[in-house]
Amino acid sequence: MKLALSLLALSTAVHAAPAVDAARLYQNHCAQCHGVQLEGATAPSLADSQWVHGQPTPANLTNIIAKGLPDKGMPGWSPTLDKAQIAALAAYVAPGGRKGPAAKPAAAAKADDGLARLTLPKGFSIAVYAEGVTTARSMAVSDSGIVYVGSRKAGKVYAVVDDNKDGKADRVVTIAEGLNNPIGVTLLNGALYVAEIGRVIRFDGIDKSYASKPAYKVVKADLPDDKWHGEKVIKAGPDGKLYIPVGSPCNTCNKEADVYSKIYRMNPDGSGWEMFAGGIRNTVGFAFHPQTKQLWFTDNGPDEMGDNTPSCELNVAPKAGMHFGFPYCHGGVIADPKFAAGRTCAEFTPPVAKLGPHVAPLGLAFYTGTQFPSQYRNQVFVAEHGSWNRTQKIGYKVSLVTLQGNQEVTTTTFIDGFLQGDDVSGRPVDIAVTADGALLVSDDHAGRIYRVTYTGK
Ligand code: HEC
Repeated sequence: MKLALSLLALSTAVHAAPAVDAARLYQNHCAQCHGVQLEGATAPSLADSQWVHGQPTPANLTNIIAKGLPDKGMPGWSPTLDKAQIAALAAYVAPGGRKGPAAKPAAAAKADDGLARLTLPKGFSIAVYAEGVTTARSMAVSDSGIVYVGSRKAGKVYAVVDDNKDGKADRVVTIAEGLNNPIGVTLLNGALYVAEIGRVIRFDGIDKSYASKPAYKVVKADLPDDKWHGEKVIKAGPDGKLYIPVGSPCNTCNKEADVYSKIYRMNPDGSGWEMFAGGIRNTVGFAFHPQTKQLWFTDNGPDEMGDNTPSCELNVAPKAGMHFGFPYCHGGVIADPKFAAGRTCAEFTPPVAKLGPHVAPLGLAFYTGTQFPSQYRNQVFVAEHGSWNRTQKIGYKVSLVTLQGNQEVTTTTFIDGFLQGDDVSGRPVDIAVTADGALLVSDDHAGRIYRVTYTGK
């Protein structure tokens, strides 16, 4: 009896535990930089056959994971993780180390067009506007209707063009490639500004030149190039300045004295760099209110504080110089156990809306069109990229926050269904309104742009 039991225990341990643990450990600690499917994000792919730091032997991988590559932005995981965990991760990221769903690319989403699973309020329809927009991130729509799209790992900037104006894009043109996670795009005075991790570049007269691999000028080259939260959105403000964030280079840390955890603005030529707002962990979305012209932005709350805390934020900065709490206070109400050090949440500007824990709000847009029913006018849509380290996934949708002045009235789900159980078909990144009042949603998981229209009467 005793023997049988211990055999049973042994066989359970051998079959079930290591694989499950490594996949979970990977999602919790590595996916944010190396990608949910090891495909690479801000850090290189671990799924391809290129290894930069020696051969992928167990000993070498264990060493890299344990010690990190401090000068390259790869953190060391000893002592956060124990020896067995690090060994399991080394086996997991090694070639042939993964069996089952995590290793497979999202082929299922491609089999059908994935639209049937999406739900919207009555009267709205959703269609695929463009495919093949690999790792699509921020969008900017020009006066002539061309949609410029930044990307993450693809390193490209695209022009998505609907030549015959039938509401479906005909071409996805690569404007530039080989850039460093050029997620941010914005238009100002006919030029396309692109924010990479470490610099801002500019393509002049873009609507005329996008198809002929246009040259660019470097506007600002000395932005911090940290890999952790180093990607930067960019948005031209109503004051003619460019707004750019510098995220905190950590999960939580106090780098207030440095350039980090703030929003800056500068003149279009790169001069006049100044701080605009502080206390922001990592914002990946800006929008200016169509009437008040104030800056609204999302902020992603810290990890490792539990599945249900703290909440991610939707904020507004009616004036320069405000502080939104990080790293002392999270979600407007949670004093940081390590960094608050006597400071209270009451000292800082609270969020307008608490969007939920780990939902990862990225881009946002005020609805300025007339196609949707009038109650949508000037309300704000928020793209929730979705959690990467919560026991049960959350987010993966587009929310609608209705406002009265600068107060939240309700937050409801507008587009749902990208997440079904643990299966993910899309991850919303940014939102844009086109001249005809349709809503575009970019998705870096499927490499798509969706288009939402109102057809109900
Ligand atoms: C904060 C971002 C970040 C996190 C989190 C992170 N890494 Fe990395 N990792 C990097 C970067 C950046 C590099 C590449 C450095 C360079 O440029 O050579 C790297 C490199 C590596 C390499 C070497 C790849 C090669 O080609 O030789 C391995 C292996 C690796 N990471 C495994 C892991 C594992 C396992 C985890 C989770 C326990 C993890 N990393 C978490 C940023 C990260």
